Amino acid sequence: MNEQQTMDAQEVYIRIMKDGPYLVHGQAEIRQEFIVPNDQGNSWEYRVGRDFTDKTKALVSLCRCGRTTHAPFCDAMHLKVAFDGTERASHTPILDDAKQYPGPNYILLDNEAYCAFARFCDAFGQVWNLVSEGDELTDELTLRETFHCPSGRLMLRKRGEQELLEPKLTPSIGVLEDPAIHVSGPLYVKGGIRVESSDGTSYEIRNRQTLCRCGMSLNKPFCNGAHAPTKYRDGIPEK
Ligand code: FES
Repeated sequence: MNEQQTMDAQEVYIRIMKDGPYLVHGQAEIRQEFIVPNDQGNSWEYRVGRDFTDKTKALVSLCRCGRTTHAPFCDAMHLKVAFDGTERASHTPILDDAKQYPGPNYILLDNEAYCAFARFCDAFGQVWNLVSEGDELTDELTLRETFHCPSGRLMLRKRGEQELLEPKLTPSIGVLEDPAIHVSGPLYVKGGIRVESSDGTSYEIRNRQTLCRCGMSLNKPFCNGAHAPTKYRDGIPEK
């Protein structure tokens, strides 16, 4: 690779192909991640599975239609099935349409349109209730559950402060699996990776976001949880 190509390979971004796959530019780390429940059966942590990272390639193509036989990569099945990948998501900043749930110490912000049905918000009485309590334990749980929300639907700020609190995430892509409900989930895009629409405009750059890979979201390119009722399975064997 020449110097310019080396520089390009260092900048990870995702370009959406019209009615086609996600083109991941740069040498992104791509790993399968399982949503692991706690003893009460609520989503609690992530466990890393297979590693799909290929540092020899400056560009990889990830399936967006949900029909590939080579998940998470594209095998051109979108052409055979005449995939309609129309992007219907808003370019409005996610905060603009978020509801506020004020608690004594934190304000929870929630934009439900981006829900990826990962259910980290359910543990120990649900995050919307936890934030309203405001003791040491419930505040800790509020932070944990918000930070684990892969879609970024849930956001948090300290009372009296404007800046959002966010976990430190390395730019990388998680291929989510949700064995508790026997489905595969979206791509968990972390660390401020830019996502470029098929029309050439960029979506808001966010620390946590989930991109649909089942092909069924009505809020494409983002996941809206449709992989759960449609029982999407990617066919990748567990490590
Ligand atoms: S992966 Fe969640 S709606 Fe498609």
